[in-house]
Order: sequence, then C-alpha cells, then structure tokens
Amino acid sequence: MSSNIKTQIETLRREIQNHDYLYYVQSQPEITDTEYDKLLKKLQSLENEHPKFITPDSPTQRVSGQAVKDFRQVKHSSPMLSLDNTYTPDELKEWDERVKKSLGEEKYEFVVEPKIDGISCSLTYTNGLLTLGATRGDGETGEDITLNVRTIRSIPLSLIKPAHAHSFPETIEIRGEIFIDKNDFQELNDELSREGAQLFANPRNAAAGSVRQKNPAITAKRPLRFFTHSYGETGGIKFKTHWEFLDFCKELGLKTIENTRLCKSFDEAVKYCLKWQEERDKLHYEIDGMVIKINSLEQRQILGQTMKSPRWAIAYKFPARQATTRILNIRVQVGRTGALTPVADLE
Ligand code: IVH
Repeated sequence: MSSNIKTQIETLRREIQNHDYLYYVQSQPEITDTEYDKLLKKLQSLENEHPKFITPDSPTQRVSGQAVKDFRQVKHSSPMLSLDNTYTPDELKEWDERVKKSLGEEKYEFVVEPKIDGISCSLTYTNGLLTLGATRGDGETGEDITLNVRTIRSIPLSLIKPAHAHSFPETIEIRGEIFIDKNDFQELNDELSREGAQLFANPRNAAAGSVRQKNPAITAKRPLRFFTHSYGETGGIKFKTHWEFLDFCKELGLKTIENTRLCKSFDEAVKYCLKWQEERDKLHYEIDGMVIKINSLEQRQILGQTMKSPRWAIAYKFPARQATTRILNIRVQVGRTGALTPVADLE
C-alpha cells in the first residue's frame, strides 16, 4: 500500500517536472494551466497525507523556509567575470583582429547570444539536486539566495539525467541570468500600483529587487525566469565547444538563451548583432546588446583572460534607447500607509 503511494507520488512528480520542462525549456506546453494546477494539487494532497514521502526537490517544495534577515556570503568556485564592452562594429573588428593574432592560422567559430538585461546568478547542482543559488556580488563573493532561486519555475530543482550518462556530475555550477519578461513586468507594476506599492523602473530593477527579497514567499509571486549562458565548475565533464555545453544544458532541463546562433565567420556574427539591434522590440525580454563568444573551448584557453574579463568574448552594447513623449497627467497616489506618491501618465 505504502509503496504504491510512493510510486504514485513519484510518477506525479516526474509528470509535473516534464510539464515544467515543456513549458519553460521547450516553450511547448502540452496541458493548460488548470490541468497543471490539478496535478500539483493532487501531489500536494498525497504528500499532506503521507509527509514521509516529501523530498526537497518535489515541485510542492518550491517555496520553503522563513524570511531571512541577511543573506549568507558565498565564495565562487571560480570568479564570475564580466565582459568587455564595445559600441560599434569597428570596435568589434579590433577585438576580432586581436583574436586572429593570438590564434595564428587557426580557423575559429563564434556563438552569438543576446545579452540579457537581468541579474547574474550561479546555480550549483550536487548529484543532480539544486543545492545553491548565489548572486554574482563582486565576482569573487556573492550572496546565498537559494531559497529565492528555488521559487523560479524555469530553474529545475533536480536535473534530468542525460541519456548517455550513468550518473550526474557530482557538482556542476551553471551560470546565467535571472530576468522578467516585458509583459510580466507590466502586469507586475499594474498589480503593485493597484496595491499602492512602489513601482519598479524597469524589468531589470524588478528582477534585482525580487531576487534579493528577504521573504521567499514574495519572490515566489514575482514572474522571474532564468536563461543559462555559462558555467563555473563542470564536475570533470569536458566539452569541446560552447555549443556542445548549451546542448548539454538543454538535455539537463535547463533553458538556454533563445535566438542564440552559431556563426562561421566574423562578418556573419556582426550581421547577427545588427539584426537584433534593429529587432530587439520583437523579443519578449529586454536585451542591452549581444555577446560574441569563441565557440571552441581549446581556443578559449589559448586566448585566456584578464583579471576582469575573458579575451574570448566581447559584448556589443546597443545605443541607449531614447524616445520623446508627453506627460498627459500627474496624479497623486495614496499608498496603504498614507504615503503620497506623484505619478506621471505618459503618452
Ligand atoms: S557570458 C565572462 N553571456 O553580462 C563570461 N553574460 O558583464 C560570462 N550577461 O555579468 C558571461 N547576457 O551576467 C554572458 N549571453 C550572455 C549574457 C551575459 C547577459 C551578463 C552576465 C555578466 C554581464 C557581463
């Protein structure tokens, strides 16, 4: 009887995990939100009746723990570097010339990714289970935001075992960006405005504020998402290329950046950057530029890094967006505590 229930619980969990994967990684949901909630409720009620079968990676356990006073400091296994910025195709060309000089006669490929305007985050998985989420901090030391990270549904609490592997790497550290979709940001601000709460200036600030919330129950209500873009420790797994790493991430159930492209030539890479400079409004998330990375990890080794940033990657930053608008009206908003906030309605 008991083992029957355990099997039932485990099957439900796998089912829910699979739907999370279809929804967040593949963007191809197979069931409606209502059907999803039904599965979750069923699992919840089985677990309530049989609490001995609750595991930390159960989808019912996303929101856990009490509000904290301060976040614990964590030292990164290797520094979380930043990227050098360029602002024109000519500056990109200068970077490519330096790469060419270092690599000599060798051919090289590029991976070009949107530069997500979010919050840098590191996720540590131990034997396939999410055990740590940390902010970048100063690059050497960040803050432990595990409880908040656990509430983000595009971050799996446990990884999917890759088909060809017997077991998970003991530790693997995935790095990426936590962000909020443009639409979700609008809805969040509308809701905050109805509550008379302070609004966020942009999706990035909303993501930053939500990630550093002291109460994970509030973070859970924020529409945070995660895209993978790099790694720290890989637990002994050797990849040949960045492209291979990204494929591996997808197998593990992690979401990589949409519209990432493998480019065979520098000209193709620049063209792709300029395409998204024109079309950034078509994306459902904010980007502040593109990142060009050398694909081969062996070539990355040759190129090396400075104290601050790798020589094998470069950011191409878009010009700041400017627009002229008109103030239609200035209202005075009364908050719950009676605080008065002037709000401008823009055309
Ligand atoms: S690669 C050092 N790829 O931009 C290489 N970073 O200053 C590791 N970012 O803090 C980063 N989109 O969090 C990489 N597609 C992308 C990115 C990206 C956004 C952030 C990153 C970092 C900052 C670079």
